[in-house]
Amino acid sequence: MEKPKVVLGVSGGIAAYKACELLRRLTESGHDVRVVPTEASLHFVGAATWSALSGHPVSTEVWNDVHEVPHVRIGQHADLVVVAPATADLLARAAHGLADDLLTNTLLTARCPVVFAPAMHTEMWEHPATRENVATLRRRGAVVIEPAVGRLTGVDTGKGRLPDPGEIFEVCRRVLARGPVAPDLAGRHVVISAGGTREPLDPVRYLGNRSSGKQGYALARTAVARGARVTLVEANTGLPDPSGADIVRVGTATQLREAVLKAAADADVVVMAAAVADFRPAEYAAGKIKKKDGQEPAPIALVRNPDILAEVAGRRARPEQIVVGFAAETDNVLANGREKLRRKGCDLLVVNEVGERRTFGAEENEAVVLAADGGETTVPFGPKEALADTVWDLVSPRLA
Ligand code: CTP
Repeated sequence: MEKPKVVLGVSGGIAAYKACELLRRLTESGHDVRVVPTEASLHFVGAATWSALSGHPVSTEVWNDVHEVPHVRIGQHADLVVVAPATADLLARAAHGLADDLLTNTLLTARCPVVFAPAMHTEMWEHPATRENVATLRRRGAVVIEPAVGRLTGVDTGKGRLPDPGEIFEVCRRVLARGPVAPDLAGRHVVISAGGTREPLDPVRYLGNRSSGKQGYALARTAVARGARVTLVEANTGLPDPSGADIVRVGTATQLREAVLKAAADADVVVMAAAVADFRPAEYAAGKIKKKDGQEPAPIALVRNPDILAEVAGRRARPEQIVVGFAAETDNVLANGREKLRRKGCDLLVVNEVGERRTFGAEENEAVVLAADGGETTVPFGPKEALADTVWDLVSPRLA
């Protein structure tokens, strides 16, 4: 079988050195990789490195090997183009359709999925020019993953770091696995809640639940690979950040509600995969609750937490917004699921059967996805990313 052909575009940022690791991962997992650096990027990593690591000649401009028409051929033959790092300048040139070097020519001739992994200083990432260029590229179907937050080139920290090469590799793998189809969530903003809320009793204790957050993270990773801008509202998962998503960390149901409502304001899709505590302690003890000799513990009074899913679905920050809920049921699974779908007012409800033989935190899952329009999709036992992709398969046509 022929190896999948990947073009690795490298533009001129300090993170160019991390692209060597991405290249290694791609070649070692059986991809045929052509590296197309920009002239500026050669200040950071030289052509000899790319040539040696990829086993192909390397050029930055269209005037070498002209008889082979490389400015057309490289893009036409690619199964995937990934640009890492993508600088503000490269994103601007791509958004405006410029073709002033081999990489931008390749971007114009490629008909395969294109992934951009931006890296730059926070100010450049947040500048309205860059925001608009990124939005343009996403609207046209490119996968532009969100930069990571952390230490930048100088002493400063902020958003703009190139995600870990291993994570970019995973995004590439998922995009390639989908084949030559356009990323169907490109240009969409997706908000996903994941994990389980903790409701504090005192400074050292809380009421919590056993949700691992793995299903919500699988939804985030697959949505990134399908081109969405992803906001992941994370409650107490302790899981490594999925690359390409914006992460908002929360602890309690109240904080989760605030974060979800804020992010939902301009979202196309909201998925409530988090296990939200239905109740919280009526009172919070500022000091640690002590046991008292000879006394029974005082009962813990609880109050209701707001139902975030019902609120999001009832509000619909945008009329065309799609709202997806999850339900864990032990018996009468489908009947209870139907009733919950109606009660919460969401468009889709992913119903899991929970019980003794099904453990929280597992890598695999099975479910039935109920739709408000009567649809019912059974997802057989399998990886959580497969269930996540089925959810997006059902969301995507509803967005149109
Ligand atoms: N949910 C929510 N806010 C809450 C409780 C739950 O947004 N306070 C959301 C969950 O994120 C999930 C869905 O509602 O998407 C279903 O949660 P579940 O616990 O199954 O439903 P409940 O409303 O708690 O119903 P019950 O406990 O009666 O089964």
